[in-house]
Amino acid sequence: MALAISLVFLLFFPICSLAQGDNFLFNGFNGSDLKLEGDSKLKPSGMIRLTDTTRDVIGHAFYNKPITMFDKNSSSYPNASSFSTEFVFAIVSQSSSPGGFGLAFTLSPSPSFPGAETGHYLGIFSSSNDKNPSNHILAVEFDTVNGYKDFYNSYGNHVGIDINSVDSKKFEPAVYYATDGNKSELSLESGDLIHAWIEYDGKAQLLNVTISPIDKKKPTKPLLSYHDYDLSSVLQETMYAGFSASTGDNQSSSHYILAWSFAVNGIASKLNLTQLSNPPKENSSSSSYSRPIKALIVALSVVVFLLLAILFLFTLYRKLMPFETLEDWEIDCPHRFQYKDLYAATKGFKDSAVIGAGGFGAVYKGVMPSTGCEVAIKKITRNGIQGMREFAAEIESLGRLRHKNLVNLQGWCKKKNDLLIVYDYIPNGSLDTLIFHPKDNFVLSWEQRFNIIKGIASGLLYLHEEWEQVVIHRDVKSSNVLIDAELNAHLSDFGLARLYDHGEISHTTGVVGTIGYIAPELARTGKASASSDVFAYGILLLEVASGKRPIGPGHSDQFILVDWVMEHHEAGHVLDTVDPKLDSNYVVKEMELVLQLGLLCSHFKQEARPTMRQLVRYLNGDEPLPPVYNWDLIESESVSEMNSRFMQVISTDSFISYKSSSFGGISSSSMASGR
Ligand SMILES: *[C@@H]1O[C@H](CO)[C@@H](O)[C@H](O)[C@H]1NC(C)=O
Ligand SMILES: *[C@@H]1O[C@H](CO)[C@@H](O)[C@H](O)[C@H]1NC(C)=O
Ligand SMILES: *[C@@H]1O[C@H](CO)[C@@H](O)[C@H](O)[C@H]1NC(C)=O
Ligand SMILES: *[C@@H]1O[C@H](CO)[C@@H](O)[C@H](O)[C@H]1NC(C)=O
Ligand SMILES: *[C@@H]1O[C@H](CO)[C@@H](O)[C@H](O)[C@H]1NC(C)=O
Ligand SMILES: *[C@@H]1O[C@H](CO)[C@@H](O)[C@H](O)[C@H]1NC(C)=O
Ligand SMILES: *[C@@H]1O[C@H](CO)[C@@H](O)[C@H](O)[C@H]1NC(C)=O
Ligand SMILES: *[C@@H]1O[C@H](CO)[C@@H](O)[C@H](O)[C@H]1NC(C)=O
Repeated sequence: MALAISLVFLLFFPICSLAQGDNFLFNGFNGSDLKLEGDSKLKPSGMIRLTDTTRDVIGHAFYNKPITMFDKNSSSYPNASSFSTEFVFAIVSQSSSPGGFGLAFTLSPSPSFPGAETGHYLGIFSSSNDKNPSNHILAVEFDTVNGYKDFYNSYGNHVGIDINSVDSKKFEPAVYYATDGNKSELSLESGDLIHAWIEYDGKAQLLNVTISPIDKKKPTKPLLSYHDYDLSSVLQETMYAGFSASTGDNQSSSHYILAWSFAVNGIASKLNLTQLSNPPKENSSSSSYSRPIKALIVALSVVVFLLLAILFLFTLYRKLMPFETLEDWEIDCPHRFQYKDLYAATKGFKDSAVIGAGGFGAVYKGVMPSTGCEVAIKKITRNGIQGMREFAAEIESLGRLRHKNLVNLQGWCKKKNDLLIVYDYIPNGSLDTLIFHPKDNFVLSWEQRFNIIKGIASGLLYLHEEWEQVVIHRDVKSSNVLIDAELNAHLSDFGLARLYDHGEISHTTGVVGTIGYIAPELARTGKASASSDVFAYGILLLEVASGKRPIGPGHSDQFILVDWVMEHHEAGHVLDTVDPKLDSNYVVKEMELVLQLGLLCSHFKQEARPTMRQLVRYLNGDEPLPPVYNWDLIESESVSEMNSRFMQVISTDSFISYKSSSFGGISSSSMASGR
């Protein structure tokens, strides 16, 4: 594997290095024989990038073996040996800001520079060791920033010879001399490749520095020729050779070394320049922040991104997945449903899923995704969730009611202002619809009607007397009786009126119920009782038997079913009130029983009405029905008294307010819409 990688590497980046003793040649680098420190990196293209444009960083690249600088065989001995080096570098600065600070070919006793500083110190010296003779450092700087302490090197683009200090012993602006002696400036930080030579003659103690553009021949005239200093006193027995570069706190460049050869006591091998290409241009100024700031920016960006992502996902989740927050008390409720399940069951409460609309809200048909069971979901919209806990407790309790003639309340769910109540789905719709708007002219037979009547009675008996608490239905009416596939009755919406009552209506003086079914004392006092349920049931009996609505427009006056049936009862031909759709197909005894029981139940005096238990006995023929008189005549005084005291009544369905004019308390211009 490693072999394959190096083969590929060599194929694409033919690198030829020749390392013989203290002489070596790198026509590109692969990392071997090098010691990289600081910011310095080996690029895949074979270049060494000493620094990028990060601010305040240092990069070093040194040949990893020490070089013997004093050789007994050398003609210059005991002075330092001659040496020669040739290299190609490039300094790339950003177009948006000035570059800095430059690089230096360095001979040093060690390849490491602890405490070295950035900026003008070029990563070799520091403010504490500057000018210290014990540094034993010889550096040739290719500096792009003017003057250390703004006095020296005041020309920015320059080459200088530094001995133990950043104060150059000698420096020159960066120029090269063409063969004709013409002098041209060479911008060090242009990003172009620059060819440099440094030669030292040990015998003559002469140091020459020469530069040229990469495409020009080596100038015959060196840029710097320096012989004023005893370099033998600077150099030590063995020295490390290499490069150092640094950036500053507001000026930075990328510094590259592309090729390098070195020789002691001889001429450095010629570089093969054919393979070299320019390093990439710098144009992202954001990369010029110093590393801690960069890290901070990255960290902040990540945090901000994560926060945004979380926020986004959260919003998305809330939008797509209707979200619910549970309060402590909700968690313990066994009948609680997940909003998302109900949402899925009704395909997002779409209008086509609506199967009915009542006083409390719309009813949707749904299919529970987990079980595939059909359910009816009543959606009650309330303003504010005040009283929601009370609601839930009530529904929790109603959810425990189990009777074959009650619609099974499966559970509930709360979402913001909506309370959703989940029931078993009952397929045949309401009794009201079956009597008044049947599909395909379907007519409920008397047998079916009688069975339904008995079923409702059985359900109400359970609510009133057989369960652990007395539950008042409060809204008994034909549209609250649902009929299943076997045409059995199921009472629905029991107890809800009460919930509604202590929800929004409680602050009004109105009562809850449906016009036509409201017992007089209920209208008067607003207090519902088992007896007021019986009253409504009586109206329902008359409705089922006669096929007529409890109230409606009459010929001259308001039609009132109870009065009308009573009139016929008085006149001795109560059977004239029977639903003509039955076509005389009924059991006369049962019909008479139902009509008279209806009249008895809708007696305006509570005491005259039977209890649900008595009522069931009458219906089953276990006990004869007491005679039914026209109480209107008997107790007309109290009736008129009562009429005068009627108050406004609010229907849960339509919020119609009305005044009473006669018994039953029902007379209004908008009475036709009385359910
Ligand atoms: C790098 O180059 C040298 C000589 O050119 C070679 O000996 C060495 O195996 C190379 N190293 C890698 C990792 O390619
Ligand atoms: C110096 O030269 C002698 C003979 O010419 C040789 O034996 C010796 O190894 C050389 N020393 C070095 C350091 O090259
Ligand atoms: C020197 O070079 C400059 C431009 O680089 C040119 O204008 C000038 O003529 C040259 N002088 C000679 C003597 O070649
Ligand atoms: C060593 O350098 C000194 C000057 O610093 C010079 O006078 C002397 O000739 C040199 N010795 C040799 C052997 O080159
Ligand atoms: C250095 O440059 C001078 C001319 O300035 C030249 O005479 C000398 O030979 C050069 N020395 C080297 C070692 O290149
Ligand atoms: C860089 O910073 C120094 C002080 O630290 C300031 O004098 C100089 O003007 C700055 N240069 C730029 C280009 O901002
Ligand atoms: C330089 O390298 C190229 C490709 O690696 C090679 O073809 C050419 O011969 C080399 N030139 C010299 C002078 O070695
Ligand atoms: C500089 O910009 C060029 C195109 O404008 C792009 O190809 C190159 O990658 C950029 N370089 C850096 C270091 O961002």
